[in-house]
Amino acid sequence: MNSESLSLFSPHLAARFDALAARYTVKRSALVPMLLYAQDEIGYISDAVVVEVAQRVGVTELEVRNVATYYSMLRFRPVGRYHVQVCTNISCMLRGANEIYERFQQELGVASGVVTADGLFSLEEVECIGACSWAPAIQVNYDFHDELTPWLVAGILAGYREKAWAPGDGSSSPGWEAGVPGDGASSPGPQADAEGKGRNA
Ligand code: FES
Repeated sequence: MNSESLSLFSPHLAARFDALAARYTVKRSALVPMLLYAQDEIGYISDAVVVEVAQRVGVTELEVRNVATYYSMLRFRPVGRYHVQVCTNISCMLRGANEIYERFQQELGVASGVVTADGLFSLEEVECIGACSWAPAIQVNYDFHDELTPWLVAGILAGYREKAWAPGDGSSSPGWEAGVPGDGASSPGPQADAEGKGRNA
């Protein structure tokens, strides 16, 4: 499949896949970055994503699923426009992560794995996101928020609500029907912020 074939993905992403596949001597090496890019555009790894990525990389759908299920940053169901991941692993837990997680549940009215009724947020309790030195930390799409306290939670959410309704919203979570896919913050894949946090997010 190339960028001119019928594709689930945008022409821009299809062309990006073609370039990726050409870059690797072994085409299947492009699998994980392709899945990350696909997730950024579609919102999650749907069955259709698995099928098309398998065709593009030249592996079976089962092989795609076997790889995809290994990586916790790849998800298999839709999330909110802003996906809030609260780390409750040891460093964060010792510095109050459980209270922060509870506050997010109260503010959003949802439990882990659930999307809010308006589709704006989803919440997930996660393992270490690589920001232990700044614990407790959370990740919202590709943004990190660290050294948190429970009373900062409402303000963080308010900031994203404001952003959601701003013209030309800079959401970094494509796949949400009213979202604007792609912006400066939406480079797919695990990425560190300016201070090098989140290396294993
Ligand atoms: S334990 Fe929370 S970021 Fe590492």
